[in-house]
Amino acid sequence: MQVPALAHVDATFAAGEATAIMGPSGSGKSTLLHVAALLDPPSSGSVWLDATCLSAADGSGLGDDARSNFRLRRLGFVHQTYPMVVSLTPLENVMLPAEYAGVRRADARARALDLLARVGLSARADRDVRTLSGGERQRVAIARALVNRPAVVFADEPTAALDSVTGEQVLDVLFAEARASGAALLVATHDPNVAARADHLLRLSGGRIA
Ligand SMILES: Nc1ncnc2c1ncn2[C@@H]1O[C@H](COP(=O)(O)OP(=O)(O)OP(=O)(O)O)[C@@H](O)[C@H]1O
Ligand SMILES: [Mg+2]
Repeated sequence: MQVPALAHVDATFAAGEATAIMGPSGSGKSTLLHVAALLDPPSSGSVWLDATCLSAADGSGLGDDARSNFRLRRLGFVHQTYPMVVSLTPLENVMLPAEYAGVRRADARARALDLLARVGLSARADRDVRTLSGGERQRVAIARALVNRPAVVFADEPTAALDSVTGEQVLDVLFAEARASGAALLVATHDPNVAARADHLLRLSGGRIA
């Protein structure tokens, strides 16, 4: 038997505005982020950016290559567990998506250094990633998600693994940088502090807007 993780969820997210997605465990928050970020295909419905259909159950969205390319260049995703390439420095981790997108190495480096400065990690740019704290890694992950100047930034419980002070610092950075770059920000969270900062609140319950 198939049980839809989301049903009848119709939502619009505006440039430069932040939306907190809240709801009980299993209510579909991560599923919504994954479908909207083109990481999972919808089994019905569609995902649009401006006038472009990105992903649709009827196959009318972007093809595989175009979708990957779009994700790389226009979408940033901050995962809960902030995976890093441990053989690369924080600076190199942040540069990576820009280099994949064809940005010249010197330009990618300049962008990455600027972002690391804005997240307060200039002094850690060349450290071994494994020596960074959880909050520091999460800030590297935010810089990496922003390096290609995405139109939409997604974050799935970005503060869940952090103490409250570090969580607040990470949220300061995430919200400020998304707003400064004019990106739409979608944050799935159980944290009321996130909801308090957001422009909009989308509540899910049992896969539906509550
Ligand atoms: N890959 C999968 N296969 C089958 N069911 C899944 C899969 N991923 C999620 N689900 C189910 O879809 C529903 C929504 O899950 P989702 O991960 O979106 O919830 P969530 O709101 O992010 O929860 P949490 O707060 O625990 O992270 C749940 O019932 C979950 O068990
Ligand atoms: Mg989740």
